[in-house]
Amino acid sequence: MITAKELREKYLDFFKQKGHTIISSASLIPENDPTVLFTTAGMHPLVPYLMGEQHPGGKRLTDSQKCLRTDDIDEVGDTTHHTFFEMLGNWSLGDYFKQDAIAWSWEFLTSKNWLGLDPKKLAVSVFAGDNDAPRDDEAAKIWLEVSNNELQGRIDYLPKAKNWWGPAGQTGPCGPDTEMFYWVGKTEPPESIKQGDLAESLDWVEIWNDVFMQYNKNAKGEYEPLAQKNVDTGMGLARTVAILNGVFDNYQTDIFLPIIQKIESISNKKHGDSEGLTKAIRIIADHICASSFVLAEGLEPSNVGRGYVLRRLIRRAVRYGKQLGINNSFCSEIAEVVAEIYKDVYPEVLKNIEFIKSELNKEEERFGKTLVQGLKRFEEFVLREEIRKNPKGIMRAGGVASSQGILYGNDAFLLYQSYGFPKEIMKDLCQEKSIHFEEAGFDEAYKKHQELSRTASAGIFKGGLQDHSEISTQYHTATHLLQAALRKVLGAHIYQKGSNITAERMRFDFSHSKEITQEELQTTEDLVNQKIQESLPVHFEEMTVEGAKQAGALGVFESKYGERVKVYFVGSPEDYYSIEICGGPHIQNTREIGSFKIKKCESIGQGTKRIRAVIHDGESKKN
Ligand code: ALA
Repeated sequence: MITAKELREKYLDFFKQKGHTIISSASLIPENDPTVLFTTAGMHPLVPYLMGEQHPGGKRLTDSQKCLRTDDIDEVGDTTHHTFFEMLGNWSLGDYFKQDAIAWSWEFLTSKNWLGLDPKKLAVSVFAGDNDAPRDDEAAKIWLEVSNNELQGRIDYLPKAKNWWGPAGQTGPCGPDTEMFYWVGKTEPPESIKQGDLAESLDWVEIWNDVFMQYNKNAKGEYEPLAQKNVDTGMGLARTVAILNGVFDNYQTDIFLPIIQKIESISNKKHGDSEGLTKAIRIIADHICASSFVLAEGLEPSNVGRGYVLRRLIRRAVRYGKQLGINNSFCSEIAEVVAEIYKDVYPEVLKNIEFIKSELNKEEERFGKTLVQGLKRFEEFVLREEIRKNPKGIMRAGGVASSQGILYGNDAFLLYQSYGFPKEIMKDLCQEKSIHFEEAGFDEAYKKHQELSRTASAGIFKGGLQDHSEISTQYHTATHLLQAALRKVLGAHIYQKGSNITAERMRFDFSHSKEITQEELQTTEDLVNQKIQESLPVHFEEMTVEGAKQAGALGVFESKYGERVKVYFVGSPEDYYSIEICGGPHIQNTREIGSFKIKKCESIGQGTKRIRAVIHDGESKKN
């Protein structure tokens, strides 16, 4: 068994012998870079040097870098994808280029002195070429040379979407890459591959990527040759340890196995018993490992930026924990195992373990409360359907009883969106209670939402970039809270006449002729803050305008008869705090707003007042 520690050391040793300086892993939180939330690749902390700054370690560097990427989060649960991972890398800052990079990659992978992988199980991809840059024949030629033609027939030419890296933003250094794949199939490896195989086949796993930064993408979108040509490489540590041990499952390596065993013992379920169980166990392992590393940096779960990513990771782990039947707090026990695994390489986890455990416990508790609310809502949905079907029927005390109940796709989607219920949990609940789960309807609603919200909310979780629409969405919900609060404090004559939102502030215009006192403003602000503190869920339902009126919704009623509108509800069904006809989008929980402060209130004539306010104490832009 080769351990992660051994591979790390071998890699660094190899490149040290090739004249590289070993540098230590940078923090998971990028320094001086407000554009990204986390370090997503080994090259990230080195960007200034790739752009031409002198590095104190010279022109050849090597390291193992902690990384956090959430763009593959839906893939986590298979054998190779993670949110937190370590990337081994070697860099040439304007020094060696394709020839040495490829020759060394081949030597490290296949030499008996190093990894000694079977050359027959290796294949590589190179850039296929397009209008921006030619096919990378140079790289292909070097591969054939260094492998003594072993790779003949196993070079795949792939397009930019697969074999190109960068730039990090709109402009900057970038270039073609060449990726190395290892055969994990059950049969003997094929001598030659079909074009496109490496991009599609699950039997070929990518283990290493050599990027040749030879272009600069300029503001006009042109690719001009770069003065300083760099090499940036990244080898996935866990994947490579797995294939070296012939287990083809990262979770069976020494950096995951103890975590998996811990989850098995807590849940009394076995990894491998069913696809669903295996997936849930892996997701918990990955997410709590990632969360422990983020917490080790001193961050706390919150509703913005990094804290929000952290919150999502913890809550996702907890949800999958429920699926395994774990009902008590369990995350902190897993964090202890993470600390033990990494105590020599990344002592920061063990050093901060008390903080990590306490934050995990607190977040589990907070999430537990939301889940309880969600369960109530679930019962309501099913009950409502039963009453519709059988208005005179006698309900069993306590709610859901019928064996003919149904959970509609749209309702299920609301549970998913507002309370964070995963599909699997709803499926299980329905099964337990002999209720039909309209899965296709859920999938459809889910797909539709994903398409709608890709730009709005996915940005933060996918690319890691804090985009302004996230804040705008929070502001948007804050306007609903404000309108409801004004109606409580000043009277039901209040209605919205206009609003304007930027990433820094909101403006809200409303009908009110009388002067507003400081005290009234303060009461309004306090009330909004109270509703934020109460963590009220937000959801929408589609209904006719008539239905919306009946539900007591505020908003525009001059619509065609029978027209369907979206109605946003804030609060719990017993007592909705706000109901408004509105196109959205909105956040899922008022807590995401953080805090609310009225900055100014003025009269803008015609019986109209204008309030200017900020959320997150006006700090949202800095996050
Ligand atoms: N920067 C390259 C990657 O992350 C090596 O794949």
